[in-house]
Amino acid sequence: MLNPIDPLLIQSVAELQRWSDGARALGRRIALVPTMGALHEGHAALLRRAYDDCEISVLSIFVNPAQFNDPQDLAKYPRTLDQDLEVARREGVDFVFLPDAPSMYHDGYRYQVTENALSRELCGAHRPGHFDGVLSVVLKLFQLVKPDRAYFGEKDYQQLELVRGMADAFFLDLEIVAVPTVREADGLAISSRNARLSPAERTRAPAFPEILRASPTAAEAEEQLAAFGFDVDYVEDRPNRRFGAVKLGDVRLIDNVRRDVGL
Ligand code: PAF
Repeated sequence: MLNPIDPLLIQSVAELQRWSDGARALGRRIALVPTMGALHEGHAALLRRAYDDCEISVLSIFVNPAQFNDPQDLAKYPRTLDQDLEVARREGVDFVFLPDAPSMYHDGYRYQVTENALSRELCGAHRPGHFDGVLSVVLKLFQLVKPDRAYFGEKDYQQLELVRGMADAFFLDLEIVAVPTVREADGLAISSRNARLSPAERTRAPAFPEILRASPTAAEAEEQLAAFGFDVDYVEDRPNRRFGAVKLGDVRLIDNVRRDVGL
C-alpha cells in the first residue's frame, strides 16, 4: 500500500492527547500499534491490520527502560528511527508517538502495574520485573492514545495474554487484537534481535522453531536444542501451545507454536 502523506511525529504527551481527543470528537476510530522501534515485517503486519480496521492509526516507538532487567540488553537494543519512519509512511500511519523516558515516567516509576501469576512464569521467571514494565507502559499508552483497538503479535504470546488480562482486570474499553507471528521463509520468527545473530548463528536459528514444533515432549525439545548448541532458558508446554526461549551467543530468541494434540 502506498500513502504519500508523511505521518505526524508527536513527542509531547500533551500534544498526543490533544490529537487523540480531537480524532475521537470527530467520531474516528483509533488503532494503536505499540512498539519499541526497529520495525520489521512483523510490525508491518500489525500496522496493516490497524490501517484496515480503523480510520486513524497511531504507532508508538518507545524503548521502554522499565522492561529491561539487563542494562546491556537496553543499551544494545537497535534504534533505527529513519527506517522506522519509512515503514510508518509506507503502511499509512497517521501519527507516530515518540515520547522520552522522563515524560512517560514523570512519576519516577513509583506507580506500576503488577501481575502476580502468569508474569512470573516462562519468560517472566528469567526476566524479573520485565512484564511489570511492559504492562505499566502499555497502560500509560492506552491512557494517552485512548485507542479503540490495540494490536499485538502472537510471537510475544505471553505478553499478549498479559495485556488481555490487564484490559479485562481494569475494565479498559478497547479491543486487543492478536496478529499471527510472521516468519522468515526458513521458519525463524521475525524479530528485531535476529539482526544481532552472526551469519553462523543465523544459519542455526531456524532449528529452534523446528525442534519446538517436532519434539514429542518439552524435555526432548530441550535436549535436542542443547545438542544443536542452543543455550536453553526453558521449553514449557501449556494447553494447546508450547513456549520456548533460547540463547545463541548473547542473542535471546523466544517463540511459541500451537500444539493441538496430547497436551
Ligand atoms: O512488544 C514490544 O515491543 C513491547 O513489549 C511493547 C508492547 C511495545 C511495550 O514496550
